[in-house]
Amino acid sequence: RIPLILDCDAGVDDGVALLMAFAAREEIELLAVTTVGGNVGLALTSRNARLVRQLAAREDVPVYAGRDQAILAPGVTGARDFHGETGLGRLEVFEPAAPLADGHAANAIVKMVMARPEKTVTVAVIGPMTNLALAMLLEPRLAGRLKQVVAMGGARREGGNITASAEFNIWADPHAAQVVVASGCPLVLMGLDATFQVRTTAERLQAIRAIGTPKALAAAELLGFTRGVYERLTGDGDSPLHDPTTIAWLLRPDLFETRFCRLEIETRSELTRGHTAVEFRLGDGPAPHVQWTTRVDADGFHALLRELLARP
Ligand code: BDR
Ligand code: CA
Repeated sequence: RIPLILDCDAGVDDGVALLMAFAAREEIELLAVTTVGGNVGLALTSRNARLVRQLAAREDVPVYAGRDQAILAPGVTGARDFHGETGLGRLEVFEPAAPLADGHAANAIVKMVMARPEKTVTVAVIGPMTNLALAMLLEPRLAGRLKQVVAMGGARREGGNITASAEFNIWADPHAAQVVVASGCPLVLMGLDATFQVRTTAERLQAIRAIGTPKALAAAELLGFTRGVYERLTGDGDSPLHDPTTIAWLLRPDLFETRFCRLEIETRSELTRGHTAVEFRLGDGPAPHVQWTTRVDADGFHALLRELLARP
């Protein structure tokens, strides 16, 4: 099984990624879920992560809350347009029974990774990279101990989704992203170029709903909400699906094509803050450690999603 820490800002698509990771008991040893402020504030992302945990009956997995704000960049006001006031669209929310685990997410990440054999633990980051960056700053040996980081973030050909040139997760904490990139840790990025290939068509949504399990119905509710948002914003309801691609990559890397690149994060400019400068011309120098996802088999992804949501 893949030892995994899943760091999220539990909004709508994070919710689907959580459902996938919780369902993949046989393939993924989920060490913890950690939460960060992003789509909505930390109190809500932490509540939402625990709520989805309860829906999935996975109270065996601890949830640690991390940082509410970016390390430096001010102005993150959330993404309520895309995720609704609660962060979970129109999913019925309730106060989960099981509490948060004690301690800060960054400390928990350090502790869990350092306690395990070298290069065994993967961290999936599906929100701003704040918690992982803090953990790397706290423990400089952390990057060398991780197997890999897989993150949803960045944009190259697609342009941005929060500004013209930046994707939300990287824009929300560009300094954190730069810390993670500069750490040298193997990093696989699911940018908008990849996630815009995985569309929630009406047929795919209907197929998920038809599975009928509580997990599938919850996922359908979340995905249906995002379809509505895109329909209103762009006139096209076939919305992209972002965060769940990270979990699919862990389970089925054969569904993806990636290319090694050199990557820099824009941290200084107001206009282009959080832009991901992706360079495929590798030149001389150290071996590249960042992989940029260029293609996703969307039908394969959706078959995997349905299979996971159908599990008892
Ligand atoms: C990313 O931003 C968030 O709103 C989503 O949850 C996803 O992680 C997409 O840009
Ligand atoms: Ca997210």
